[in-house]
Amino acid sequence: MTLQTKTQDKMRQNKNQNKNQQHEPVLINEVLQYLAPKSGDSYLDLTAGYGGHARAITAHTGSLIHTVLVDRDINAIRELEKIFPKGTVSLRQKDFLSVSRELVAEKQQFDIILADLGVSSPHLNEGSRGFSIKHSGPLDMRMDQSQEITASSLVNNLSEKDLTDILMRYGEEPKSKKIARAIIEARPIETTDQLAAIASKQWPGYSKIHPATRTFQALRIAVNDELNLLEKSLPLWISLLKPGGRIAVISFHSLEDRFVKKAFQGASGDKYDAELKLLTKRPVLASPQEIVFNPRARSAKLRVAVKIKKKGN
Ligand SMILES: C[S@@+](CC[C@H](N)C(=O)[O-])C[C@H]1O[C@@H](n2cnc3c(N)ncnc32)[C@H](O)[C@@H]1O
Repeated sequence: MTLQTKTQDKMRQNKNQNKNQQHEPVLINEVLQYLAPKSGDSYLDLTAGYGGHARAITAHTGSLIHTVLVDRDINAIRELEKIFPKGTVSLRQKDFLSVSRELVAEKQQFDIILADLGVSSPHLNEGSRGFSIKHSGPLDMRMDQSQEITASSLVNNLSEKDLTDILMRYGEEPKSKKIARAIIEARPIETTDQLAAIASKQWPGYSKIHPATRTFQALRIAVNDELNLLEKSLPLWISLLKPGGRIAVISFHSLEDRFVKKAFQGASGDKYDAELKLLTKRPVLASPQEIVFNPRARSAKLRVAVKIKKKGN
């Protein structure tokens, strides 16, 4: 039986055990192929979410005691507790930059590190979380619901210039100025429906994607400070790898992928102090079959690297 068939079998069994599984892990076969988890490997999952990747990886490592699963969302942690009962793995509900700093201070290192960035399906499917264009709800968008800043506080308080910058930088929204102006004129805005209608009005006629997609994406990234946390975390993740350890990052946004590419390339190459060897020269994309089965995989990009073993380490 190949690793891939074994994994698919395991995933099918797991899925049957948990019919309520709400999030389909992307690029699962590719992640397993590149990370090559072995019995006894230690494993750090920085965005464990609903445990899809974690279940598949720990099925190979078997080493729950050396597994650290991180998510800043309490709902994800509660789901992870159902899969990995108390006292098995270490679960940490924090943003991954804070946890990475803690782990560096604790002098921990791992054979396998995974970061599958962005939001989970439950974020998008539950209207009450305020991430969704399709489901109405309060304008929230916080992954960690204990944080103060919400989408509503940004939309209703930022200046027109700051809103334009967010829409342009994080959403690559061509109509950022117009949308920012319309937002200012329509304040106060409290629901996802209101915001979706305002952004859509600036895009009359046919649009391939929902006309508010870029506005929602930009605000979500700003609310959760996603790019800043990623950029600051990447060097820490490299230092958290054991020699010979593998790191995989899955991104869904071109700016995220740019940070990952820059960090991996900066730490690799033909130089005396290179720390990493790239296992993927270009990002790995989902197959057409996976995209049919799981449309979220459409924009996923996977990059993987291995920490170079040096004399003396
Ligand atoms: C794409 S989902 C991960 C899904 C997971 N790999 C699985 O198979 O179920 C991303 C998860 O990362 C979490 N997340 C995103 N940014 C984070 C950050 N900076 N720190 C910690 N968790 C984060 C989100 O709450 C979400 O649950």
